[in-house]
Amino acid sequence: MNTNVTMEKLVALAKSRGFVFPGSDIYGGLANSWDYGPLGVELKKNIVDAWWKRFVSSRRDMVGIDAALVMNPKVWEASGHVATFTDPLVECKTCHERYRADQIDLNAACQKCGNKGTFTDPAAFNMMLKTWLGPKEDASAVAYFRPETAQAMFVDFPQVLQSSRKRVPFGIAQVGKAFRNEITPGNFIFRTREFNLMEFEYFIHPSEWEKWFEYWLEEMKAWLRFLGVKDDELVFHEIEDGERAHYSKRTVDIEYYYPFGLKELYGLAYRTDFDLKLHMESSGKDLRYTDPQTNEKYLPHVIEPAFGVDRSVLVTLLSAYHEEEAPTSEEGETDKRVVLKLPKALAPFKIAVLPLSKKDELAVVAGPLADRLRQRWATDYDETQSIGKRYRRQDEIGTPYCVTVDFDTLTDQAVTVRDRDTMKQDRVKIDDLEVYFSERLAG
Ligand code: GAP
Repeated sequence: MNTNVTMEKLVALAKSRGFVFPGSDIYGGLANSWDYGPLGVELKKNIVDAWWKRFVSSRRDMVGIDAALVMNPKVWEASGHVATFTDPLVECKTCHERYRADQIDLNAACQKCGNKGTFTDPAAFNMMLKTWLGPKEDASAVAYFRPETAQAMFVDFPQVLQSSRKRVPFGIAQVGKAFRNEITPGNFIFRTREFNLMEFEYFIHPSEWEKWFEYWLEEMKAWLRFLGVKDDELVFHEIEDGERAHYSKRTVDIEYYYPFGLKELYGLAYRTDFDLKLHMESSGKDLRYTDPQTNEKYLPHVIEPAFGVDRSVLVTLLSAYHEEEAPTSEEGETDKRVVLKLPKALAPFKIAVLPLSKKDELAVVAGPLADRLRQRWATDYDETQSIGKRYRRQDEIGTPYCVTVDFDTLTDQAVTVRDRDTMKQDRVKIDDLEVYFSERLAG
């Protein structure tokens, strides 16, 4: 488990380096709303792209969709979300602070005003974010922002099946925004009212659900290793009968030791044919699948791996964060350095080109070199401050390699390449850099 890092340190780094900062900041912000900055958007995109490649485009049994955020409200009535997508809400009778009843001790004092025994009885609070479509704000115009991406995969099932000609077992994947009117958002990007999801519905013959459940659990573990998460940072929590979501017959929550406690990161659920059956009944459309070999006609069952994008970003940063003593001089003096040991494939910049000084004779070599490398790898260019400070800055944003152009470069046509993790330096001919980096970086 990474004991170096606290949320205060991570949030400060994320803000100062432009990974994630408070949204609408110049207007005083909006509670629990966060914006991804220039580095955060690259990190998030690298995670989503790697996920898509791994789970969708590199597999013959997977296809993707990108559905509308607002669907026909009948979808949410049929799926049970309008009736049952609720959290238990209690309110302090003294200060009116609201809490999720399952997240606090109802016999303890209110965390805000300190009064004891003042909570209302829990009431079911629906988390669907409502809106109205069109100019009339009446019941006939009510619509909902999707609280999960999954329903589109069920509703679009016949069209995907017909157009892609896939055979069971196969999956439909989607990445996109979801909205939940959370009672208690918080802990940075861990719980927000607007978030990003990557999930897929894997359609199977019901007799094979156990095999596929285990298969996807192992694939999720492998994905987490790819993000740099260590096994001892995780707990696989089998959710008991009675505590699972209304649609699930088996759920494993993958939990992570965040600095604020052990909490959910991802979920894996066996949704049976719950959703297809309800949509078939509700829409009157036949959603059954006919096996071309056996002619068996049946509703496929579903295994659903669900991955929060923002929680993926959060645990990738938390797991990568390191503080360590590092040399500052050849005489053996050391200083503390903060380094994000991000997997190279996820780092926002792969390379930083750093001319030793701002002198023109170095810039004329370093500038075009950075432009050349940028054609293949995300490359930063930085010429201000001492070289030591610039190395530290690149360490803090997780750049795997720094390329220093110095005065010797002008005669030997070589540069110094510094490795983020080992801090080892290699002297490499400029003409050999593409080969050098191809062996160490993808792309
Ligand atoms: N389709 C299944 C589904 O939506 P879920 O467990 O409710 O399942 C899936 O959500 C994932 O979405 C969670 O495991 C978590 O990673 C992420 N998630 C859920 N609520 C979130 C929130 N309010 N803010 C950020 N991420 C959230």
